[in-house]
Amino acid sequence: MPADVPDDLLEAARAVQANAHVPYSHFPVGAAFRTASGRVFVGCNVENASYPEGICAESAAMGAMVSAGEYELVEVLTIADGDHLTTPCGGCRQRIREFARSGTPVHAAGPDGVRRTFTIEELLPAAFESENLA
Ligand code: THU
Repeated sequence: MPADVPDDLLEAARAVQANAHVPYSHFPVGAAFRTASGRVFVGCNVENASYPEGICAESAAMGAMVSAGEYELVEVLTIADGDHLTTPCGGCRQRIREFARSGTPVHAAGPDGVRRTFTIEELLPAAFESENLA
């Protein structure tokens, strides 16, 4: 694991990944978000028999964060299984962008730990954001 990846985010994401409700994809994902206050919010994917109604781990973590009155994301970590690098899906990149700072790191982990770290701008360049609506 790169030295600058805090263990607590990885452990929090790994723990919540185990709670994922994934009877359809069998692909559990965990997400851990650190906010400006230092608190960590977690979420896992929650699938549904009506497939499109399922939500991603990042959406679940974001709901917990905003419901607690926190709105500033300073570090993100997601974890998934398999050999392939799993990064947040397109929709979740847009959701993360809403609350991220410029340069907020997004760590992509597998069972072996963090595999790659991106900034949110690398994952979602030239984003549509609140400034567009000003
Ligand atoms: N999934 C996430 O939770 N986050 C992502 O960013 C990628 C995809 C979930 C959605 C679905 O429950 C499962 O992974 C397979 O697509």
